[in-house]
Amino acid sequence: KKVALAYSGGLDTSIIIPWLKENYGCEVIAVVGNVGQTKELEGLKEKAIKTGASKIYIEDLVDEYVEDFVFPTLKAGAKYEKNYLLGTATARPLIAKALVDIAIKENCDAICHGCTGKGNDQIRFEMAIKHFAPYMPIIAPWRIWDIESREEEIDYAESHNIPLKISRETNYSKDLNIMHLSHEGLDLEDPQNMPDYDKILELSVSPFKAKDEKIEIEIDFEKAKAIAINGKKMKASEILSYLNKIGGQAGIGIDDIVENRLVGMKSRGVYENAGGAILYKALEILESITMDKDSSHLKEHLAIKFGELVYDGKWYSNSLQALLKFMDKITENVSGKVKLLLYKGNIIPAGVSSNNSLYSKKLASFGDEGKDLYSHKDAEGFIKLYSLSTLVEAKVKEGD
Ligand code: ARG
Ligand code: SIN
Repeated sequence: KKVALAYSGGLDTSIIIPWLKENYGCEVIAVVGNVGQTKELEGLKEKAIKTGASKIYIEDLVDEYVEDFVFPTLKAGAKYEKNYLLGTATARPLIAKALVDIAIKENCDAICHGCTGKGNDQIRFEMAIKHFAPYMPIIAPWRIWDIESREEEIDYAESHNIPLKISRETNYSKDLNIMHLSHEGLDLEDPQNMPDYDKILELSVSPFKAKDEKIEIEIDFEKAKAIAINGKKMKASEILSYLNKIGGQAGIGIDDIVENRLVGMKSRGVYENAGGAILYKALEILESITMDKDSSHLKEHLAIKFGELVYDGKWYSNSLQALLKFMDKITENVSGKVKLLLYKGNIIPAGVSSNNSLYSKKLASFGDEGKDLYSHKDAEGFIKLYSLSTLVEAKVKEGD
């Protein structure tokens, strides 16, 4: 028998290898979806084999992840509950797809993942697995075994000679990809505690520690997709990495959030997502001059739904797929350049321009330009009609 395991080399998936072999007498095929975990991938092959996997696949999904999942989510302007940029929620569906592909190729009898029974990730994985391989049995050890905590996991690892990088005190539950690094658990579980940023942050520095310097950048967008930085064309993943780096140094994109999990409980996390925060803000600025009012209000509305669907594991649903097309269409004219200053955690607008700009200086001006299109006098008739019902109501109240 063979089981394909979504493997990361972290605590959960490391102890799952011996556990699967002990409990199912199966071979374990470790599958890693590389969505930009960088240093976490080092030595992973040796580690998986040493831990008992018979084979490991490390699938390079970075470009696909940024092109087809991260950038479309940014284009949609989607966040979950106003603040969360969905770094984990966008990656799970793609990792799950790669997992299914390999499970089928390897003729596996089941797919296994290391998500706990208390989180969102189990749902996101299984929603995608069911979408691509509805017949495939799924093993979720956290919902089966007697291990109840990370402490007990560490005990299990130590008794099975599994090499661990983490120490007992610093085991935040983390998820790293090119979009973000999330931190949950330990002292963060009490919302009264301010995060100890010097201890937690890995991709960025806190605004308090950022250098006293303004970093100016210019981002070029074509149809709401970032295509160049400071005039230099780059592919999507390079743009995101570049912005993560310079934004991270400037203390940008650190979010401290209590969110409502799909499974009912609230959870508190700290997210580092400098590049995403910069692109999100830049696009918002560009949309302000290139989109008409109805389109931008409608988009804002649907962005909330988009964020909920993604968070809730419905990336491959018909509704999310339709929303992707909607977002493409509604942002057709969102092309141009946005200048920003990055300064101690702030993203400061420094000028925006577009060939498709709907902003008319002539019309908006307090001077006397633009009279051919519209003059002060034109407002009179409009307000008369617009206020008619208000006027009638007020008169009736006065007994007129
Ligand atoms: N709370 C975030 C989410 O639901 C991050 C989850 C991080 N996952 C993890 N396995 N550490 O998307
Ligand atoms: C987990 O519980 O496996 C991680 C956190 C989450 O899925 O929300």
